[in-house]
Amino acid sequence: MSQFDIISATQEPDLSTAMKVVYQWNYGSEVEELRSLYVKALESQWIADRDLDWERPIDYVALATTPLEIGFPLEQTTYWRSLSAEKVGELKKRMVSFRLSNFLHGEQGALMVAAQLVNAVPHTDAKFYAATQTIDETRHVEVFARYIHKLDTVRPIAPNLKGLLDSTLETGDWAKKLVGMQIVVEGLALYSFRGMRNLTQEPLLKEILTYVGRDEARHHAYGVQYVERCTPWLSAAEREDLEDFAFDAAIAIIGGRNQAGFMAALLQSWAEAGIDSAELLACAQRERDQLIRAPRPAGRRRGPVSGFVLPTLRRCGLLSRRVAGRFHEVLQENLGSQVVGDSLEEFMQWIPDLPEDTAAWVLGELD
Ligand SMILES: [Fe+2]
Ligand SMILES: [Fe+2]
Repeated sequence: MSQFDIISATQEPDLSTAMKVVYQWNYGSEVEELRSLYVKALESQWIADRDLDWERPIDYVALATTPLEIGFPLEQTTYWRSLSAEKVGELKKRMVSFRLSNFLHGEQGALMVAAQLVNAVPHTDAKFYAATQTIDETRHVEVFARYIHKLDTVRPIAPNLKGLLDSTLETGDWAKKLVGMQIVVEGLALYSFRGMRNLTQEPLLKEILTYVGRDEARHHAYGVQYVERCTPWLSAAEREDLEDFAFDAAIAIIGGRNQAGFMAALLQSWAEAGIDSAELLACAQRERDQLIRAPRPAGRRRGPVSGFVLPTLRRCGLLSRRVAGRFHEVLQENLGSQVVGDSLEEFMQWIPDLPEDTAAWVLGELD
């Protein structure tokens, strides 16, 4: 039997939250679309141990094809191209375990927020749905942890992600929990899952991300359907407050300084594998102009925020000109005008609609 302790060194017990619990005495259905989403969730349950082939060893050659997706073609630099296939394999392994570790920690946050939503949301249908999401997130924690243990070790959570999970857990406002988790965190995660799922050739990883991605598409639908029902009933001040919460949450992940922190942690883990990270960066800097001029994949969806989170906020009635202006300013600083437009008008025009079918989009069947 493994060792058992009530208090262990891996716990972090001191986050206090301010959540009000709502009883609902009307057990009939008030939001029909949420009731059907709940039924769909029940029909789509899967069991990690039964439905995935865990005996299959990780295919390291295929894993090395998983792209970095760091917003810069680092793999085309002279330094990177001079590395042996074995070294590239090691760096990719570290990159994948680093990213999956953050997915894993995000899933733990999602598990706890979903459980809070069962208590905090005021409608029976919404409580039912949140209960199914709680079990979905449990499974996601299970599969990511299991895959990372097979591959490498679990890396610590990125501080900005931890901050965002804390503030979503801490808020006493259930609408903010929905916006923080279902719209921002899940929206960003869905975008990353999609990228990794469709580009990696590693069979078990691809399969895990297929199962998880389908669940996440449903979680996103819950956020959209519930929040768009609620926003028309909010006062102007409440709506502004919710918009600002969404803005802060999204920037916590994609803001320039936060992205740099993420990259520094990845470089550190590569340095441990014998890479001269200062030389890698210097090489990227020297070859930057030439590499950036190389044609970049064009697409309607330019990055997780403009391509997915903003369309979701607009659909939910949470993208006023006021907050769109704040997003435009930050994204222009991070990505440049050619990606997000010179003016606020252009920026707003370029925001695409949400995919017609999010599950099909996650599986790469739609742009
Ligand atoms: Fe999840
Ligand atoms: Fe989720």
